[in-house]
Amino acid sequence: MFDPVAFIAAKKSGARHPPGQIRSFVQGLVGGEVADYQAAAWAMAVCFKGLDRDETVVLAEEIAASGARMDWALPDGRVVDKHSTGGVGDKVSLVAVPLAAACGLAVPKLSGRGLGITGGTLDKLESIPGMRVGLDESELRAQVAEHGLAIAAQSEAIAPADGILYALRDVTATIDSIPLIAASVMSKKLAGGASTLALDVKCGRGAFMPAYDDAFALAELMAEIGSAAGVTVRAYVSSMDHPLGRAVGNSLEVSEALEALAGEGPPDVVELALTIVAGLLRDSGARPAPRAAREAAGRALASGAAREKFASMVRSQGGDLDGFLADPPHERRRRVEVRSEAEGFVDGIDARAIGALVRSLGGGRLTKEDDVDHGVGIRILAGRGDWVDAPPGGPLAGGRSCPTPAVDRSPIWSRPRSNFLPSRRCRNR
Ligand code: URA
Repeated sequence: MFDPVAFIAAKKSGARHPPGQIRSFVQGLVGGEVADYQAAAWAMAVCFKGLDRDETVVLAEEIAASGARMDWALPDGRVVDKHSTGGVGDKVSLVAVPLAAACGLAVPKLSGRGLGITGGTLDKLESIPGMRVGLDESELRAQVAEHGLAIAAQSEAIAPADGILYALRDVTATIDSIPLIAASVMSKKLAGGASTLALDVKCGRGAFMPAYDDAFALAELMAEIGSAAGVTVRAYVSSMDHPLGRAVGNSLEVSEALEALAGEGPPDVVELALTIVAGLLRDSGARPAPRAAREAAGRALASGAAREKFASMVRSQGGDLDGFLADPPHERRRRVEVRSEAEGFVDGIDARAIGALVRSLGGGRLTKEDDVDHGVGIRILAGRGDWVDAPPGGPLAGGRSCPTPAVDRSPIWSRPRSNFLPSRRCRNR
């Protein structure tokens, strides 16, 4: 008979949980035998005492086993997935998923919504009129079989134990535990059924993991969980000190992703997408040689094939891309230009502050129930390393915060430059 109090006390004293106890805990969580307050107390004990590698692997597998597990038996299927731990201006999935599909990989991507200062892929896609992200399993399968890609909401049936535990962690200050994050992310990825996975672990002031060593430890742990489950994982640790690209906010980010798919996107977004897709091509066995993988990804971008994949996904999910392009939500918003109060070079752009500002303007959520304004956002007009003039000052950003309407028609990226720092990679086989 499982005793939740003894389970919590064991972790509080730093003891190691046997696999059977972890299984009983997860089953009890879903079955209601473990109360919310007990699960929260256990999560707090884990924050202080940790879980070792084996405990974390078992926890991830048990959470994955708490619900449905997708099985992708496609005829010549190399089924891959990509996951980011969440960033500001992070529209890489909107570029990498169609790019991978254009290279012949099958990408059934189950995504989330934005919470906190980070955006969510589903919210971004829903700025396209008519776009449906709530696909049922047969729709998801049919679309991936026909077009090679789908980006849809994770159903409640996938890893339900994570849904319960994550909601408790969110309100009990127990998110920032490396083993709990690793088990949470990987349980959903294992249940999603891809055999090859790219993980983009964000690091810096706009990320869950501000310190590089913590981000790397998280990447390694997730790769080990994948290994134990027979999933090939390559993890990238990439910078989230500064926003990715020049656009932050749902519909602005879709526009920027479309520019990237047309070969005109900001270098940091394009570079990260190409790197991730080249890694997926190598690890899935589709293009084992690094140079050939990178060239194949580059060709799929340059030829317009990736953009066409994006368009076919949007069509198949009921979205009106032409309608979006003709009248994107951000164009219907009042614009304000923020000018520099001093002259000098732009040294950095605080991803956390930008993310928080977009959220406070309505572009993000404070709770899961909040509605999102898809048109709200910020365009970064002066990037890192750019010069801005003395007052009255050169433009820094365009947004929707101040009462004075002003129209800015200057290009979004006047002088593109990369803020993608070299990433360290770890791979599980
Ligand atoms: N994303 C998740 O899915 N889980 C976590 O614990 C943190 C980020």
